Order: sequence, then structure tokens, then C-alpha cells
Amino acid sequence: MSDHAGIQNPQSGPYHRPVMLAACVEGLKINPEGIYVDATFGGGGHSMAILEKIKGGKLIAFDQDEDAKKQAENIQHRSFTFCQANFRYMKKYLKLSGVTRVDGILADLGISSHQIDSPERGFSTRYDGPLDMRMDKKGHVSAAEILNTYPERELHKILGMYGEVKNAKTVAARIVSQRSSRPFKRISELIELLKTVAPRGKEFKYFAQVFQALRIEVNQELQALESFLLQCGETMEKGGRLVVMSYHSLEDRMVKNYINTGKVQGELEKDFYGNPIRPFQAITRKPVEASAEEVNENNRARSARLRIAEKIQEQSN
Ligand SMILES: C[S@@+](CC[C@H](N)C(=O)[O-])C[C@H]1O[C@@H](n2cnc3c(N)ncnc32)[C@H](O)[C@@H]1O
Repeated sequence: MSDHAGIQNPQSGPYHRPVMLAACVEGLKINPEGIYVDATFGGGGHSMAILEKIKGGKLIAFDQDEDAKKQAENIQHRSFTFCQANFRYMKKYLKLSGVTRVDGILADLGISSHQIDSPERGFSTRYDGPLDMRMDKKGHVSAAEILNTYPERELHKILGMYGEVKNAKTVAARIVSQRSSRPFKRISELIELLKTVAPRGKEFKYFAQVFQALRIEVNQELQALESFLLQCGETMEKGGRLVVMSYHSLEDRMVKNYINTGKVQGELEKDFYGNPIRPFQAITRKPVEASAEEVNENNRARSARLRIAEKIQEQSN
């Protein structure tokens, strides 16, 4: 286990154990005098490792969670700046810090162990708590609001698209029928309903799919990722590296498409001579996965997919 695993959460042990730490930092090919972004600070494991390689350069870290901000306050390093903000506004915040071009960007998507393991945040199927799931505690929409107010067809769509829930139509109908007499407040209430529609023997996987769908909608994760990736193309210097780690297939597909075509939907444009117009070139053709040893030590690394790309030309908009 790396030394960087280590900014401790005073309440409950390590805040988050960084996944594929060495591969991510190597992927950035750090120039000690360069300007780098860690778009998902979390517990700061990746940021600390980046800072060790910087001499004279800068690291600007983002996280929308105020708990991550408290972790960031533990880092006293003159090259380090923290912005408590959604990475979908990266370009704007960089500009406010006087930065228009960067030499490398890292994003370790999803949620941290600290967020999952805090029952009051409502991310985990394992604990009871409020149906919240907001990474930004000041965000407007919680999971309970989605369950209690979205039209049935929207719930059906979200569960099917974001959670790949097979019987999404049935679950949406049950949610709508239950909420008219008993609006959803707590995780235990949702789990009780899901038990009646989950496939036998696969309940935990099923609960996780439903929670994933709600979390993606609450935090508008795919919209944020699209906007962020486009800004990576706009702000990166030629030769700079984009390093993105995702934990589910929808995100990984968007990252892969963006790297290969400059568009998250994946249509490749070509110039008059037939040359592809795309800002990045993949350094890793296939996503890098964690070693069996790392997965053994840190189960969260199991689903991680790491993609690395280098900026080769300006993005066409
Ligand atoms: C997997 S954790 C990052 C862990 C980190 N690399 C470490 O070593 O501790 C993801 C973090 O990104 C944050 N996050 C996710 N989506 C975000 C977004 N759109 N804008 C800002 N922060 C985001 C979450 O709040 C969470 O703290």
C-alpha cells in the first residue's frame, strides 16, 4: 500500500485509497515546472503523488464535496491550489486562477470510499440513511426528490439507461404506486421495495444498479463528464496528457469515444485530406486494469478502467 493512501479521515480511518496510483502519475508524464489539474481530489492520494514530482510548477485540484475541501486543507504546499467546484466548470475556475493552458489533467471519476462509507450521505446499499446521494451537499436534487417527483417514464428511462436495470419499467411503476401513499425518505424504504422485484440470488448487484442510476441522475454525472472532456481538449497544451479512470461502462465509453474522436458520441470528423480531426491520441489502446494484487488489497480497484491520451492538435468546435 502506498504512502499516499494516507490522509486520514479523523472519524473513520483512511478517507480513500487511491487506485492505480503509479500508473496514473506515470501516465501524466510530469514536467516538474508544468501546470497540472487533479479534477477529483477526494482524499488527495493522487494529488500528493503529483505534488512530489512538481518543482516550480502548479497543481490545481477540484472537488465538489466540502468533505474533500477539508482534506485539502491538510496540504500545505506552495504549488497547490484547491477549488471546491464541479469539474464541469474547470475552464472558468482555471481562468480565475490565472491559468489558461495546462500540461496534464487527471480525473478519477465516481465517488470516494469516504462518501460511500458515510451512511448520512446515502450512497451505500449497505447502510440505512437518507436517500440523498449528492456529492455537492448544496446540490438541488436528492435521490428522494427524484423518486418522489419524476414522472414514471423518466424513472423508467433513468433506471434502464444509467443502471442497465432489466425490469426498469416494472420498478418505475412500483415506485410511482408506492410514493402516492408513502413518499420515499430512507434507503431502507427503497431497499424493501427493490427486494420485491430483484432477481433471486442477485439482489445486491441489482440494488447497486438502481443506486448507480439514481446517483448518476442526482449528480448529472454524464453531462458533467461530457462538458469536462471537451474542456480538457480546449485547455491542454500540445503534448499534454489526459489520464482518466472510470468505474462503469457508460463513463468508460464516453472517455474512449472522446479520446478516439474528440466527441463523446464517437463520430470521427476528417479534414479535406481524410486526416482525422481529434485533439487526442490514445497512449493506451485498451483500458489499463488494476493488478490482481491491487484488487486483492482494494476491492474498489476491481472495476477501474484507466485510459491515457496525449494532446496532438487543437480541438475543432
Ligand atoms: C474516486 S474519488 C477520487 C479519489 C482521489 N483520486 C484520491 O486519491 O483520494 C472521486 C472524487 O471526485 C469527486 N467528484 C466526482 N464528480 C465530480 C465533479 N463533477 N466535479 C467535482 N468533483 C467530482 C467526488 O466528490 C469524489 O471526492
